[in-house]
Amino acid sequence: MMILDGKNVASKILTMVKNKVDSLDIKPHLVVILVGNNSASKIYVNNKKLAAEKIGIRSSIIEFPDTISEETLLDKIIELNNNPEVTGILVQLPLPKHIDKNKVVMTISPKKDVDGFTPENVGKLVIGLKPYFYPATPQGILMLLDEYCIPIKGADVVVIGRSNIVGKPMAQMFLNRDATVTLCHSYTKNLDEKIKTADIIVSAVGKKIVRCKMVNKNSVIIDVGIYKDVNGKLTGDVDFNIVEPTVKYISPVPGGVGPMTIASLMYNASIIYS
Ligand code: GUN
Repeated sequence: MMILDGKNVASKILTMVKNKVDSLDIKPHLVVILVGNNSASKIYVNNKKLAAEKIGIRSSIIEFPDTISEETLLDKIIELNNNPEVTGILVQLPLPKHIDKNKVVMTISPKKDVDGFTPENVGKLVIGLKPYFYPATPQGILMLLDEYCIPIKGADVVVIGRSNIVGKPMAQMFLNRDATVTLCHSYTKNLDEKIKTADIIVSAVGKKIVRCKMVNKNSVIIDVGIYKDVNGKLTGDVDFNIVEPTVKYISPVPGGVGPMTIASLMYNASIIYS
């Protein structure tokens, strides 16, 4: 078994991005919009800001109360789209229920959409054109697999979870790299057997789903889940202690996908389109 050390790979990527940013005449400026009081979102947004500061990317957080109207939020995004000093815009999700998330995402300029969530960027990904930005978590996962030279072409990949943020773009990006992809979700039949025969398993569900009997000695396990267990300890979708000795590669939680997502986002934030 080998641990996929996301922390270590992320720090290499961040050094590379820092060198690039240092060499730029025009410096990137990432604006993160945070609506409401979601405690996990606050932590994520702060982590993004800290990472940006460390590598010389200017970042601003704009906070709104959860009572903000959809119109005010959309107006702010339009203002940022038109501000040439802002090179990246990220609206932290989830948003309060009275705000239409899709309307918000569709308002972000594709050339500043560092999350890669807008229809133009998603559509380009699907039809095989280069989007302005690839979604951070899937892109970070591919960077991690590439760093360990884990073959993707022709691999049988199982992605569990079909979110717009991880599962769907992840499946598409594996497909674009010539993997055979099975995208699984809560209605999937015989999930255990699908996981058992896959070469690479990416779990992005948010509850314990991958257990020992489902894996084999050649499995590569990527755990995107991150939440606190009953004892308040950070844990992922995979029963790590039991699965770890029986597989080929596994990403830990914490220290796996989390730092790769941040590094991947910083890579995106360093890209400037005019
Ligand atoms: N909420 C959870 N993950 C993400 C992400 O990658 N981007 C945004 N904008 N919100 C999120």
